[in-house]
Parts: sequence; structure tokens; C-alpha cells
Amino acid sequence: MDAIEVKNLTKRFNSKGGFAAVDHISFSVADGEIFGLLGPNGAGKTTLIKILTTLLKPSSGMAKVAGFDVSKDKEKVRESIGIVFQEPALDWRLTGRENLDFHARMYGIKRSERDARVEEALKLVELEDKVDIVTDKYSSGMKRRLELARGFIHNPKVLFLDEPTMGLDTHTRRRIWDYIKELNESEGVTIVLTTHQMEEADYLCERVGIMDSGKIIALDTPQNLKDLIGSDLVSLEININRGSYDYAVFKKLDFVTDFIAHDGFVTLKMERGDLRIPAIMEVANKSGIEIKSVNLRKPSLEDVFLHFTGRRIRE
Ligand SMILES: Nc1ncnc2c1ncn2[C@@H]1O[C@H](COP(=O)(O)OP(=O)(O)OP(=O)(O)O)[C@@H](O)[C@H]1O
Ligand SMILES: [Mg+2]
Repeated sequence: MDAIEVKNLTKRFNSKGGFAAVDHISFSVADGEIFGLLGPNGAGKTTLIKILTTLLKPSSGMAKVAGFDVSKDKEKVRESIGIVFQEPALDWRLTGRENLDFHARMYGIKRSERDARVEEALKLVELEDKVDIVTDKYSSGMKRRLELARGFIHNPKVLFLDEPTMGLDTHTRRRIWDYIKELNESEGVTIVLTTHQMEEADYLCERVGIMDSGKIIALDTPQNLKDLIGSDLVSLEININRGSYDYAVFKKLDFVTDFIAHDGFVTLKMERGDLRIPAIMEVANKSGIEIKSVNLRKPSLEDVFLHFTGRRIRE
């Protein structure tokens, strides 16, 4: 059975119609999968998560989580899931242990079992030595780790993580990624996370749905999505203060298979980019296009987004 099944799901905040924050989305997530929703600000990721966790009512369409319908079987859905919200949601007056204990109590976990679960959860996120400190005194990375522990303390079937590492430094981010992987592997919990960091989606997720303006515009494994772009990419950073240029000159190079101009950059697609840079520079020089930097790379999920939308995820 799929852990999540979504069909034609739509959410309009204005009942009179208007724009759809979630716009006829369909997808499914397999049991035990780590699934990512990647997209820029306002894409609809949180709205979708809120519908799947029964916090928002869909306008139309159907969604099932752990086999239960989010509209008809709210309680059953809630019993089956854990959530880490985008906005911090710890009680800052309580210690780490008290936060977890309170949450476990809410889920009706018995005292005898509760202590063991709390210890286990704290161990996974390596906060054992901070359990008796009020969370107000935690660093932002420690708070996030505790929230993660709280999200799975009651053994949910599906764990939703809305931007689990937003605002954290690279080191803390990597540690959280490791906890997420560990949790998925050791407990077999299905994980749905949202992010606007392509490295996070790439590193963590078995499959990624790329979201933009309420729609999933591409969905596959990170590797397949990148293979879709194929060849090498050469990005030229243009000095746009010198006026506007006709970038079509690059298209005349016979090895350029595609090009896209965006935010002061021109990105060209080609095979063997390493051999082509001199010829590209020559065309730029002849056309008076002033280049500030050149970057050769393999496609990333950012390029996949760019390919489908003509924009970059990061402004
Ligand atoms: N309660 C609400 N009432 C009206 N509009 C809303 C509400 N919540 C969200 N929206 C709108 O829905 C769209 C999607 O918002 P959402 O928070 O789902 O995006 P997101 O992908 O999570 O963005 P971010 O990366 O910034 O967290 C936005 O245009 C937002 O303004
Ligand atoms: Mg959001």
C-alpha cells in the first residue's frame, strides 16, 4: 500500500475562486520512501503539507495518508503521522525532556513506555546531555533536532518535515540530514519533506516533486531529473550594466543545443563543455558581450527547475 495517495488535490483560499495555492496535484509516495517537495517561496509546499496533515481542508480532490482519507478520517490520519512545522513550535519554558514527554502523553503513550521512547529519541538526535535544560536556552540547531525527535517519538507511520533545516548552518544541516536518513532506515518511517534547497532534496530524497505555482511540474528520482537535462552546462555571468545584448549569437555555435538567459546569466547546454569555452569566449568578444565569469558544471536540480520555469529557485 502507498503511504500517501493524492488525486487532483486543489486548495483555493478564496472561496469565490481566484488563484489556487495547490492546483490539481496528483502523486503518490511509497511505504518507507523519503519523498521531497522542492520549490521556491510561495510554491504551495506548506499548503500541501497542511492538507495532508488535516490542518487545512482541501477545496477539491482527494488525499489519503496511511490509507486514511484526510477529509473523512481526520483522527486516523492524525494518529498515523508526525509533523515538524516550518515555524518553530517548542514550548520554550519546558526542558527538552518535558517537551518530548508532554508530546508522548498527548499521543497516549504509557508512562512505562514513555521514558524509554524519550531516551531513544534524544539519543538519535544526540541531545542526551541537554535534556534537562529549558529549550529557550537551546541553539537553533538544537531546537530543530529536538523538534525532529518530537516528530517521531510516538512511532508515526508517516513523518512530515516542513523545511527541516531552514536557517541552519551547513554543519548542523548535514547532521539533521543524517538523523533523517537514520530514522528512515532504522524505523522504516515514510518521510515527506519540503525544501527550497536543491542539495537537500538531492542528498536525502529517493524521489523529488518539483513544485511551482501550486503545481508539481516534474517528479522523479534526482538522478533521472538531472539526466533529463543531460549534457554539460556553461553559465556566463554577463555585465548587464553595459547595455542589453543579443544572446542569440550563442545559438549560432553548432555545439550549443539549447540556451536560456536569466538574471544576468546566460546558460548554454552542450556536450564536452570543457573543450568549448574558448569558442564561446570568442563569440562573446566579437559581439561585445562583456563576461564577468564562466562556470562549467553538470546539471543540478536547480537546472531542472530552470529548464521547466525559466527561473531559478533562489532569487
Ligand atoms: N492562509 C492563507 N490565506 C491566503 N493565502 C495563503 C494562506 N496560506 C498560504 N497562502 C498563499 O498560498 C501560496 C502558497 O503558500 P505556501 O506557504 O504553501 O508556500 P510555500 O511553498 O510553503 O513557501 P515557502 O517556501 O515560503 O515556505 C502563497 O501565495 C501564499 O501567499
Ligand atoms: Mg512553506
